[in-house]
Amino acid sequence: MKNSHYILSCLLLLALNPMSIAQKNSKKNIAPINKEVFIQSLISKMSIDEKLGQLTLYTSDMSVTGPVIRDNYKQDIMNGRCGNIFNAYTPAYTRKLQDMAMQSRLRIPLLFGYDVIHGHKTIFPIPLGESCAWDTLLSEKSAKIAALEASADGLHWTYSPMVDIARDPRWGRVAEGSGEDPVLGSAIARAKVKGYQGTDLKSKESILSCVKHFALYGAPVAGRDYNTVDMSMQNMFNVYLPPYKAAIDAGAASVMSSFNEINGVPATANKWLMTDLLRKQWGFKGFVVTDYTSINEMVNHGNVANDYEAGVAALNAGIDMDMQGAVYITHLKSALEKNEVKMADIDAAVYRVLDAKWQLGLFENPYLYCDENRAKQSIMSKENLQTAEEIAIASMVLLKNENNVLPLKAKGNIALIGPFVKNKRDLIGNWSGAGNWTQANNLYDAVVSRTKGDATITYAMGANVTDDTTLIKKMNIQEFIDKRQSTELLKEAIEIASKADVVVMALGESEGMSGEAASRSDIGIPSNQVALLKAIHALGKPIVLLLSNGRPLSLSWENEHINAILETWFLGTQSGPAICKVLFGDANPSGKLTMSFPRSVGQVPIYYAAKNTGRPFDNNQKYTSKYLDIPNTPLYPFGYGLAYTQFEYKNLTLNKNQFKANEGITAQIEVKNIGDKDAFETVQLYVQDLVGSSTRPVKELKKFGKYFIKAGESKTINFTLSTEELKFYNANMDWVLEPGQFKLYMGKNSQEVLEVPFEISGN
Ligand code: NOJ
Repeated sequence: MKNSHYILSCLLLLALNPMSIAQKNSKKNIAPINKEVFIQSLISKMSIDEKLGQLTLYTSDMSVTGPVIRDNYKQDIMNGRCGNIFNAYTPAYTRKLQDMAMQSRLRIPLLFGYDVIHGHKTIFPIPLGESCAWDTLLSEKSAKIAALEASADGLHWTYSPMVDIARDPRWGRVAEGSGEDPVLGSAIARAKVKGYQGTDLKSKESILSCVKHFALYGAPVAGRDYNTVDMSMQNMFNVYLPPYKAAIDAGAASVMSSFNEINGVPATANKWLMTDLLRKQWGFKGFVVTDYTSINEMVNHGNVANDYEAGVAALNAGIDMDMQGAVYITHLKSALEKNEVKMADIDAAVYRVLDAKWQLGLFENPYLYCDENRAKQSIMSKENLQTAEEIAIASMVLLKNENNVLPLKAKGNIALIGPFVKNKRDLIGNWSGAGNWTQANNLYDAVVSRTKGDATITYAMGANVTDDTTLIKKMNIQEFIDKRQSTELLKEAIEIASKADVVVMALGESEGMSGEAASRSDIGIPSNQVALLKAIHALGKPIVLLLSNGRPLSLSWENEHINAILETWFLGTQSGPAICKVLFGDANPSGKLTMSFPRSVGQVPIYYAAKNTGRPFDNNQKYTSKYLDIPNTPLYPFGYGLAYTQFEYKNLTLNKNQFKANEGITAQIEVKNIGDKDAFETVQLYVQDLVGSSTRPVKELKKFGKYFIKAGESKTINFTLSTEELKFYNANMDWVLEPGQFKLYMGKNSQEVLEVPFEISGN
């Protein structure tokens, strides 16, 4: 049959049943239907309600991730008024819902989305923790496993990666991103998209990624979630936008609009952002979904008077899919009749959604991801758990290790104290979606089994995660609270600790103290736990502090008084075994911070790539930029992290000192492991543009690499920087390379660096 005749006959069939055509195609092994023809003809058969149904996403009642849940969503699926579902998984459950979609007139398959943020069932470290590995291959690996498990569990689409640059640790959602830096953030964003989507979306093991929250959600005023964002265009383009762009260039199939406004216009109604920048300038071809009811929330923002206006503004801005708000399905029909939105725009949005379903292969087989056997084989497999442990180990950051207290020897009496020793509930962290905390492995069990027969392990909880009853209620953790008096808990801990040779204290935030709607104005360890720590410290024993938390904490007292501090974040399913390996030196810590840790909450927002100001810090001069009570520097800077060895950096050289545009700048440095343990070291390269038409940050990360260096070994590390990487958006928003003097820094973190000057000549 000639191709044109074939397509014509397909189109006739399509009028009755689009699914059967695609299925027949795959069986008979004949030339596939042209995607565009298929989708366009399908759209031509759709009623306006069916079109708006494809632009509608409802949560199922299986789990809930936002404030409202809509009744009758199942009815809507069968009527073609809901084309997409989130918060529903397992092959059996998604099959049941897909069956309902197959009862709708056009039998268009449902798309199933979910927050697979740091693993599906095998839970990896929270993203902020994982970013501290500075290892894009590991970032990709965890995303690949997450996709493998999620797709085996009926899912097509994850609401990840979250790539919001965040510089204010009061904001609880710093836990979900990769920290403060655009270059590292972009590299991780690319890796995540690659991991989730693979090379072929039709493969049953890949899922659509969704880059979020577009845009600038990580910069709310005062670190309060959902708050206003007000930002210069230069800051936006030089710092905050690059990771979204990187994810899109890597092929991210979808984008989620952020809750916040951007300079007065909510992202969800922001035509400049969603159409001019995202589609026209960046060439994004996928679909844009809102965040949870963010169309409706525009009424509160105050840029529209009611849901009707909100829906019109969102569609006209370029938003394709309405998450949970039911605004499109309720109001766009009348908006169309009143000519306030165009059918062409609705059709274009529908096209993009159907295109995603096509790319996943759902028109060929809507049940492609509903395979019970696959789920049994791939979910929480031994290999997945092994990788989770490997990544958990790489994510920990050793903040202090006075007198080499760590690693511990498995001997004597080791007291384990704190609410995170036996805890499983918090280990998988916030946004752990389908993760089951009861399957997480805790520290206590791991230490007992590691030291069996060699050391005596004692335990006391010492304190609840918090004594603040309002907070306990807000986080709904009453059942995890030890009902004994805090004095009783403390007394028990002191008794246990006083018999110990070394005390390991596992303290921190519970998982619900970071994440969405979990901003804090005090970012210390909760005060009742600090009281416990101080009481144990008074005994004069060596103390190792293990921290569980979802944000940088202010740790000035702890840093001054405690011998060793290991940042363990929330490391996921394999937390306990991973921490235990580092604790006893079976693994060497190698993580480095991706967000600065302040000395005090009064310093935030704090980040290494700051500007110099006209009156840079000078402690001896009154009228300089500083605080009266503390230095400007963070307690632990960006890029910082220790190992059970030391590295010496020397001989930083450049291939030359003067470069023309387009010439490669090659920097070389020698890094020697001068300790007695093999270890990984992340080498970092920063640049400072000394004089710019617009002021430039004192340092900007440009390159990094992680190297395994054996004890006593010296490695020569080279990075080649292109002059493109020295460009920035100037005051006219031109992307420019400005000739002049620069400094290049290489070292172990953003503060401990060697430096060398170079020049970019004007011709
Ligand atoms: C709201 C959150 O902001 C977003 O990150 C998440 O993906 C959606 N809810 C869906 O759960």
